[in-house]
Formats: sequence, C-alpha cells, structure tokens
Amino acid sequence: MSKNKHGASTHYAVHWQEEQYYYPGPEFIGQANCTDPGIYQRFSLDRFPECYKEFADLLHWDRYWHTTLDTSDAPCWKWFVGGRLNASYNCVDRHLQKHKNKTAIHFVPELEEEPVEHMTYQELYRRVNETAAVLQDFCGLQAGDRVTLYLPMTPELPVTMLACARLGIIHCQVFAGFSGKACGDRMHDSESNILITMDAYYRGGRLLNHKVNADQAVQAAENAGQKVSKVLVWCRYPGRYSSSEPMVENRDFFLDELVRQHRNATIKPVSMPAEDILFLMYTSGSTGRPKGCQHSTGGYLSYVTWMSKYVQDIHPEDVYWCLADIGWITGHSFIVYGPLSLGASTVIYEGVPTYPDAGRCWRIAQELDVNIFHTSPTAVRALRKVGGDEPARYNYHFKHMTSVGEPIEPDVWRWYYEVVGKGRAVIVDTWWQTETGGFLCSTMPAIDPMKPGSAGPGLPGIHPVIYDDEGNELKPGEGKAGNLCIRNPWPGAFQSIWKDRERYIRSYYGKYNRDPKSRDWRDWPYMAGDAAVLESDGYVRILGRIDDVINVSGHRLGTKEIESAALSADGVAEAAVVAMPDEIKGMVPDLYVSLKPGIDPSDELEKKVISTVADVLGKIARPAHVYIVPDMPKTRSGKIMRRVLASISNRRDIGDVSTLANPEIVEEIRQQVQG
Ligand code: WTA
Repeated sequence: MSKNKHGASTHYAVHWQEEQYYYPGPEFIGQANCTDPGIYQRFSLDRFPECYKEFADLLHWDRYWHTTLDTSDAPCWKWFVGGRLNASYNCVDRHLQKHKNKTAIHFVPELEEEPVEHMTYQELYRRVNETAAVLQDFCGLQAGDRVTLYLPMTPELPVTMLACARLGIIHCQVFAGFSGKACGDRMHDSESNILITMDAYYRGGRLLNHKVNADQAVQAAENAGQKVSKVLVWCRYPGRYSSSEPMVENRDFFLDELVRQHRNATIKPVSMPAEDILFLMYTSGSTGRPKGCQHSTGGYLSYVTWMSKYVQDIHPEDVYWCLADIGWITGHSFIVYGPLSLGASTVIYEGVPTYPDAGRCWRIAQELDVNIFHTSPTAVRALRKVGGDEPARYNYHFKHMTSVGEPIEPDVWRWYYEVVGKGRAVIVDTWWQTETGGFLCSTMPAIDPMKPGSAGPGLPGIHPVIYDDEGNELKPGEGKAGNLCIRNPWPGAFQSIWKDRERYIRSYYGKYNRDPKSRDWRDWPYMAGDAAVLESDGYVRILGRIDDVINVSGHRLGTKEIESAALSADGVAEAAVVAMPDEIKGMVPDLYVSLKPGIDPSDELEKKVISTVADVLGKIARPAHVYIVPDMPKTRSGKIMRRVLASISNRRDIGDVSTLANPEIVEEIRQQVQG
C-alpha cells in the first residue's frame, strides 16, 4: 500500500478483488472506428514520437508542421512545431461544407417544459463569429490575452470558448459552481481584465442568481490587485435580465445586445502556432494556490480529437452526451473540443441529472437518440440510488458508455453495464487528469475486454509505469501499489503551470527525473500524483491521490484550500481537513478546527465555518462534518497530524501516537467524533 501520509484518499480500491472480463459484443465491434489490435504495436515506444503524426492528421493545418516533438526546453515539450492552425476553424468552419445543417449542439434546458434547442453548425458558426467580433471590436482583445469565463452549462459557454479560440485569446473558464472569490483569484492569477458571465441559470428547479457571484469575483480580483475593465453578461433569456444585481455602469454590458450590433459579422480565424496556448484550466494541487494548467492548440486539439474518435468511438451519425460540466477538463475535452472537432452532435444539459425525477437522463437519451453516454461514478451512484430500475422504462440504446473522474466500484460498474447499458453497451473507464488533456489509461473499446474496477492499459502511445518511492519499477502482477507515472510525453499533455515553471517541474517530474539538465524525454517520466496497482494483464487499477487532494464527486479539491477557507472564519485558530468515503460522492472532506483563546464552541460557530468554506470555495467544498476540537494532535515540532485525524474520521486503527507532543488529546477527539 502506498504511503498515505496525509490521510488522503488512497485506501479503497486496493481491497477490491480481481474481477472477471467482459467482452465487447459483435454489434459494437462491427461498427467501431478502431478494431485493429496492431494499433498498440503502431504506437510502441520505438515508434515514438513519430507515431503521433496520426493524431495531427485528424486536423486541418494552415501550415503543416515540421518537427513532431521538440525536447529542447525539457520538460516543457513542444508538439508539431512549425505548424499553424486555428481551433475554432477546426471545430466549426471545416464542417460547414458537409454538415452545415447538422446539429452541432443539442441544448437541453433543465426545465422540461422548455424546448430543446438544436443548434446547427451553421448557427454555431454565426454565433461564434458574432461573439468574436464583440471580443475584438468592443473589448479590443487579441491573441495571447486572457479572458475569464464564469459560465454555466448553456450553449453560450462553447460559443464563447470558440470565439476566443478564433482570435487566439486564451480562455480561462471557471466552474460556475465555484464561489465568486475562487473565480476572482483565478482572474488575478491569469491576469484577465475581462470577465464573461451569465445572469442566471437553472439548477434543481431554481433559477440561480449568478451575476451576484460574478460581482464577488470582480471584487476578489480587484482586492488581489487585478483591475477588471469589463464584465460581459449573457442573459439566460436574451433580452430579459434575470438577476436582481444592478448592472454597473461602464463596466457591465449585455452580451446579447453587443452581439446583435455585430449581426452576421465574420471574423477570420487567426492562424496560431501549434504551441500557442488554447486555454488555461485551473486545478488543485498540494499547496493552497490553484494551478493554471496551460494547454496548447495543436497538441491538445489533436489529442482530444483522436481520443473522441477512437476511445469514445464517435461517428458522424452518433449523438453523444457527456454529462460533465464544461467548467472542468472533461467538458472542455469531451463536450466541446473533441466532439466538435469531429463534427459530431454533442448534448449540453443545463441542470441536475435527477431533476425533476430519476428518469430525466433516460428521457433525454430517448428523445435525442443519444447512443454514446459519458459520466462519472458519482452520477452513476446517484442515479442508481434514486432509480435503480428506471432505465428499463425508457427506449434508448447506448452503444458506448464512459466512466471518468474517480475509481468506480465493481458493483456500481455492473449496474452501469447491466441496467444503464442494458448489457449491450461497452464501457470505457478512462483515467486521466486536468494536466493530461485527454485519456491516458482505458481499454480500447472494440479491442480490449473490460474489467470492472480497473481503468485498463495505457492507451496506444501511452506507456505507464509504476515506481516505488525509491524509483524501482513495480512489475505487473506484483500486487504492490506505487506511484503511477507515464514514461513518455504525449501531445495532449499540458505545457506548464501558468507563470510557474518551477512548480511544474517540481510537482510532476521532481521525484523521478534522472538528470535535470537532460533534454532526453526518457529522463523525465511524468508523475501523475495517483497511487496505482499494475495487474498481471497490464491493466492499471487506480487507488487515489497521494497528495493533499480530495476527489469529491470526481472534482479535485486541495485540502489546503479548504483549510485556509476555514481559517478565514472568525474565531478559528487552526484547521485540518481529512478525506472520508461517501456512498454517493466517493470522498468528502471532514474538517477539524480549534478555536482562538476565549472563543467557545457552539453549533452556530460550526455552521458559520461550513458556510464560510462554501462561500470562499463553492458548495462542492462544503465539509461533511465540522469538529471543533480542544486542540489538534501535533508532532513535537508543531505539525498537525492529519493522519491521526483521518484514522479517527474513518474509524481505522489510530496506531502509535506516543511520540506526539500531546498524545492525550487523541482519545478525547476520538470520543467526541465516534461517541
Ligand atoms: C482521479 C478528471 C480512478 C485521479 C479527468 C486523477 C480517476 C484525478 C479516474 C484527476 C478513473 C480520474 N479512475 N480515478 N477513471 N479518472 N481519476 O484533474 O485521482 O479533475 O488524478 O481530471 O481524478 O482529476 P481531474
């Protein structure tokens, strides 16, 4: 078992037993985009990196590239050097000739009485161009500038992303469920002086006021020293403002109105160097500050296009639905860029999967003829809980389903397979990260058998290896957990952390780099930050994070971020967060706090701490419990022993605490928590 120094989440999947294989059926294989087992050979390490030409050739290049992989600035890899392209052109314009009248985006509003909007490629083209015209002419933005998007799940989000991409503007979309403060901090880090948001959106049947969060984001950015010059506001209902917050004069502008003033404008796509940044996506790491993962235009787009075609098995006639939020990497890669680059029809659903009832997803699938379905174990668990028999009542036919974001328990996997997939759909359990741009480990759906609980082998071109803490390679079937690494770079990998190359090198390469001066990629295995076991068949079973990150419903939260949010509540002196398993969400944070002298514990204070965390970070970070303890268990040097608190929360053996500075406190806390 890999070390679990911080009480992070590496505990469960290691106990799962080996499962039987499930084989893809002939119907699926007969139509699949990739059925050639020789593909692994074609992408073997001795063909690296030239094998990746096949990825690049899925795109339209304005100028073809000359160098597949440039390692001169290792470990900041450069892919398809010399090439020029535009991501918006690749996702929109190039499909017009054949697919002008085909639906690009099916938008499903949360309220069932509102009609589904079917946006054709032509319509998408028009809206992207008009929006790009506003960004260029009204905002004066140009290639390389950063713009923060704080948008919910409506078509305006991909339209705005593609409008940015058209001009080479770097978009930084912040999940709409994050707090205004979290958004403002990201604006500051990315130095965005323009915020694009929406007045309101539906969630759980309520029209949420989102503009209020956007105002807080501006405030937070300005407090941090980032000037915000404009806030562009889409209206959930164009022409009808649904927020009670006032529009600030000369700062806030209705984007629908501006777009109307640019009706039918066309903007020539800016031909971008392959290595220029397409977007930043922030994610949590082991220190408090979120990391801006910097994704390239050519490498990233080619990677997600290939993965969408061969792992998601998207064909032109398929209807593809990924239930993730575009505010996360899954949505960027597998709702927007991958599917649209292939000219597919992609579904965007605004709201909660179980709203207004347990049958909603299956009604959407039936109505739109969705045949490829993509979601997280958290959603699968929730759907099973509220309506285990619902799928059978609906007449939809999935050929393919994806699981992403967390380990999926074998019995949850089987429900997904048998009940949701009706025993016919293949499942791919895709392991990857914000940093990696696209999938790394998964079965190839028509080639490899599935095994519940194991993601699968490295995908073609991806060569995983598991090292122990000393850097020894753990062999397949050894049964030991270690640190999951990838031997080689790949085109979808992020280029660096925005403005923090040192942190990039330290976090992902520091442990196993063989020579910091080397320009040979072989010396730079990528360390993912996950513990894993390599099974004898070469399948990887992911155990969870090895750093201070908690995976809540498939969303990464840094324990340090939660702790510093808790510390901002009045009266709190110290805070420590540990991970607890949860039936639906996979993991949830438990929060321990101690109070400043003279402050008494109370239920109100507990509630205040919870609401402070939700205000600072967003509701998804809300702790499951807050325990106000008389003191934290500490080492003699004063470090909080989170491992001890994690054992208490998880009712595990606490182990030897005699070397602590205050061992007596442990029993007191245990009684308080466990009763
Ligand atoms: C976890 C989401 C098990 C893992 C795409 C990783 C998974 C983190 C899987 C990245 C999977 C992702 N099985 N665990 N199939 N997919 N993870 O950056 O711990 O939000 O490091 O990217 O989620 O989360 P992120």
